[in-house]
Amino acid sequence: MDIRLERIAESELKPKPDESKLGFGKFMSDYMFVMKYDESKGWNDPVIRKYEDFSLDPAAMVLHYGQAIFEGLKAYRGKDGRIFLFRPTDNLNRMNISAERMCMARIPTDVVLDAMKQLVEVDQEWVPRVNGSSLYIRPALIATEAGLGVRPAAEYLFFIITGPVGAYYSEGFNPTRIYVEDKYVRAVPGGVGHVKTAGNYAASIMAAVEAHKLGYTQVLWLDAIKRKNIEEVGTSNIFFVIGDDLITPELSGSILPGITRDSVIQLARDWGIRVTERTISIDEVLSANEDGSLKEVFGTGTAAVISPVGALHYKGETCTIGGGKTGELSQRLFDELQAIQYGFQEDPHNWVVKTT
Ligand code: COI
Repeated sequence: MDIRLERIAESELKPKPDESKLGFGKFMSDYMFVMKYDESKGWNDPVIRKYEDFSLDPAAMVLHYGQAIFEGLKAYRGKDGRIFLFRPTDNLNRMNISAERMCMARIPTDVVLDAMKQLVEVDQEWVPRVNGSSLYIRPALIATEAGLGVRPAAEYLFFIITGPVGAYYSEGFNPTRIYVEDKYVRAVPGGVGHVKTAGNYAASIMAAVEAHKLGYTQVLWLDAIKRKNIEEVGTSNIFFVIGDDLITPELSGSILPGITRDSVIQLARDWGIRVTERTISIDEVLSANEDGSLKEVFGTGTAAVISPVGALHYKGETCTIGGGKTGELSQRLFDELQAIQYGFQEDPHNWVVKTT
């Protein structure tokens, strides 16, 4: 499939933001990629064009029944100005797992990877240069068929937008304060917790708002049945260093199989650290904190990278983790991961993909 490029005039290019004040998700670059699907033609009309409004039928099924999935990955400006993507094919394959679960059209991953590289190339001036910043890439797929019957749509729109980002949390790489959520739940066995569908995030907002009001950065979700076993943080997976072990909840079907999670497991194993993916309860974590064996807690995610946790609040009590400071392993993982992502270090697992 040939990807068309509709160049925009120099005079229409947007001014770039101050790279020291990027935050997350506030700025969008000049171009986007768009491709349509319908049952008779399949995927068609792939085009890179000006970032602008879409027009949608008010009966578009995404607006009513939420057939919407997305991904998140980043492009990094490395040595000599070269630009790298981190594990893009893993994101696209995961998007197809989400598509299948939500009964949506699967995306052609080879075409989309090609489009993503071309999009980053045409918007390369938007890949920021400031230390720790990157170009966030947001592929998304929505049901556009007009109709109010509840069934899989026959028409879809796939698009990729991008924008320069800094740290996801206002804390930056400083430890976050996490509220262990025991009232609301995120996902149930057999549900959609393992896929990146918009509704999961919509359903999480109330808990996050309540936690923010109490002074916490994010919530830590527990399992929906026993309300005991740890699942994931709002926008990341979670890891615990207990004794010499690195522990993270297993992919039970209700947590997201994070690509940063997978990379952290791999790096830690490369370093000879014992990593266990298993059920871990909040009680186990709190008693390990009491007896001194809990050394570090950190979240992992594309947006959040490695985000150290300095405090956990559970049922009215707040406990400090690792003296409220960033732990040694969290720091090492952050440094190593970033060095690979920016192309400053050898990439033994071939995670990094050049855009040209
Ligand atoms: C990401 O880490 O890319 C995510 O998708 C989290 C996002 C919801 C901010």
